[in-house]
Amino acid sequence: MKVLMVCLGNICRSPLAEGILREKARRAGLHWEIDSAGTNGYHTGEAPHHLSQKVARLNGVDISTQRARRFTADDFQHFEKIYAMAGDVIDDMRRIAGKKFDPNKVDLLMNEVHPGKDQDVPDPWYGPEPGYHEVYKMIDVAANRIIAKYGQPGAGGSTQGQTSGFTPQKSHEQK
Ligand code: 4NP
Repeated sequence: MKVLMVCLGNICRSPLAEGILREKARRAGLHWEIDSAGTNGYHTGEAPHHLSQKVARLNGVDISTQRARRFTADDFQHFEKIYAMAGDVIDDMRRIAGKKFDPNKVDLLMNEVHPGKDQDVPDPWYGPEPGYHEVYKMIDVAANRIIAKYGQPGAGGSTQGQTSGFTPQKSHEQK
């Protein structure tokens, strides 16, 4: 399965979502392609925010080599599933993608945890470190749901190389 995680700057939330889901997919033996992007280009080429890197590292996930890039309309052609971190991000994606916007591929990430609730992953950019830990926990739960939903044989995601008996782990079990 090809999954894209999208936020505004691609330096705080979506790099975490990319790194967390990639690590869980790797542990599950799933050969998924996972990427992230931002709807504004303010931080293109930059590494993730140091606090996103820190909370990831504390949970055994290395996102230090990821680099920010801008979301493009062509992402709708390449990716099968596109998760937005918040509603304003979907508004931006609709504007950027124009006719290529495909509502069947897009959802808010937290709708995998609370379907239909349209909950945002809050933007930690303006706040202190605890906000980044909160964001990590929310994304971690959502990533477990994605693996459980699409990582099973016949679920629509590629299961090539999947190991048997995988149970999605909670963040405190990953250390
Ligand atoms: P993110 O956070 O969307 O989670 O990467 C932000 C980072 C930077 C900006 C906005 C949000 N910014 O406007 O620079």
